[in-house]
Amino acid sequence: MVGLTYDDVLLLPQATNVIPSEVDTSSRLTRKISLRTPLISAAMDTVTESRMAIAMARQGGIGIIHRNLSPEDQAQQVRQVKRSESGMVQDPVTVGPEATISQLDELCGKYRVSGLPVVEDGKLLGIITNRDLRFIPEEEFPTKTVRETMTPMPLVTAPANVSKPEAARLLAKHKIEKLPLIDDDGRLSGLITVKDFVKTQQYPNASKDAHGRLLVGAGVGYLSESWDRALLLADAGVDVLVVDSANGEAKLALDMIRRMRGDSAFDDVQIIGGNVATQSGAQALIDAGADAVKVGVGPGSICTTRVVAGVGVPQITAIYEASKACGPAGVPLIADGGLQYSGDIGKALVAGADTVMLGSLLAGCDETPGDLVFVNGKQYKHYRGMGSLGAMSSRGKRSYSKDRYFQSDVTSDDKIIPEGIEGQVPFCGVLGSVLYELVGGLHQTMFYSGATTIPELKERGRFVRMTSAGLRESHPHDVQMTVEAPNYGGRA
Ligand code: XMP
Repeated sequence: MVGLTYDDVLLLPQATNVIPSEVDTSSRLTRKISLRTPLISAAMDTVTESRMAIAMARQGGIGIIHRNLSPEDQAQQVRQVKRSESGMVQDPVTVGPEATISQLDELCGKYRVSGLPVVEDGKLLGIITNRDLRFIPEEEFPTKTVRETMTPMPLVTAPANVSKPEAARLLAKHKIEKLPLIDDDGRLSGLITVKDFVKTQQYPNASKDAHGRLLVGAGVGYLSESWDRALLLADAGVDVLVVDSANGEAKLALDMIRRMRGDSAFDDVQIIGGNVATQSGAQALIDAGADAVKVGVGPGSICTTRVVAGVGVPQITAIYEASKACGPAGVPLIADGGLQYSGDIGKALVAGADTVMLGSLLAGCDETPGDLVFVNGKQYKHYRGMGSLGAMSSRGKRSYSKDRYFQSDVTSDDKIIPEGIEGQVPFCGVLGSVLYELVGGLHQTMFYSGATTIPELKERGRFVRMTSAGLRESHPHDVQMTVEAPNYGGRA
């Protein structure tokens, strides 16, 4: 078998009547979830925590919260995404009347909200927002109570089944930012905020669940402790769980998927399995009950699996082989890792993928965890493999990353066999503008291929294999680049 990757192939230009800006990039993430933007941010600790996941979902993609943190912290990250915006918050965070302003402040910080309904025994007593706190001196925070400070009932409220237009009308008419929903007995049953209406207009492509909340995924392992983690995440409202391992065909990983699929706690959760790189690997995940198959063994920019273990399949071939199992089964395929340019997205889709997962292309965004690093006056962000020494060693705290590489039994840091490296990527600004370039590139691919939808692109796309001279010709050559293009140069 010959193994080809992104740089080995190009898509043939075809007759077209397609306008790039008019194409539809919707595609299937799992058996039950579709995304308007077929992009996923990787479950890596330098790529996806709640801020990135919120930004990804707003743009129509999805973020997978990494698992190199405690189960409680990971579930908290999921909750932050689920509560960040919604048509209606069904179980809003509330505060009791006897809480102090300091305690309230802590709650607001934890859930990143600007005000809370005040509730006692389920009944709505009032609301407390930034407005109520404006004139309270900070030294009074530890003693002043919510009851003394809140805006008490009667408030502008609405019944739980209020329509969206009516809720918008009430918010505008009374110039308020939060509309508590109550039942006939005055019990709080939900909350609508003005922020959610603004966000809906601002992000029309956002990936949302049936309640209007942003979609979010999270990574889990396969060891027995991962079961409790998975339950916590399901309880926090996670939409997608990725049983995340470097060899998705390992029995333990397949058993985890089977066990989850058989448990009603995960009825509302889509399960992604991976990573595999062959037809039989994909088939094993499908047989175990995975709702999507993630493909990629060693293509990642920070991966060293192929050199350390000598194992892997170049990514275009891996996708194509896995798609032979996924296609007939109707199970979507995620191409994970190895993408360097926007053009690689279309190549992955034509090879057989339905969505792609990105690490290095997104790691330089403002929304990723970690601070900016300055080197010689240029700005960078830290980016590391989850199999790197840094991610797998304890360095003062517990690492949850080792089991991805089946090394959780290794107790000493100097006995770890790393399968990834640590590095940095150029800072590239906010996610919105990075995705604009990436999705814009996909629009152009669709134009050249004469495809208005992703299924059409997958159907029509044809590859030509190129030589290393062809690849050299594909990149700018014989010219000294003086200005970096936003989609070429900085990361090249
Ligand atoms: P890119 O190329 O987008 O790849 O940066 C991101 C993907 O790489 C995988 N990953 C690793 N693979 N060792 C590996 O062999 C590692 O340390 C490692 N860390 C991440 C992962 O699938 C991710 O989505």
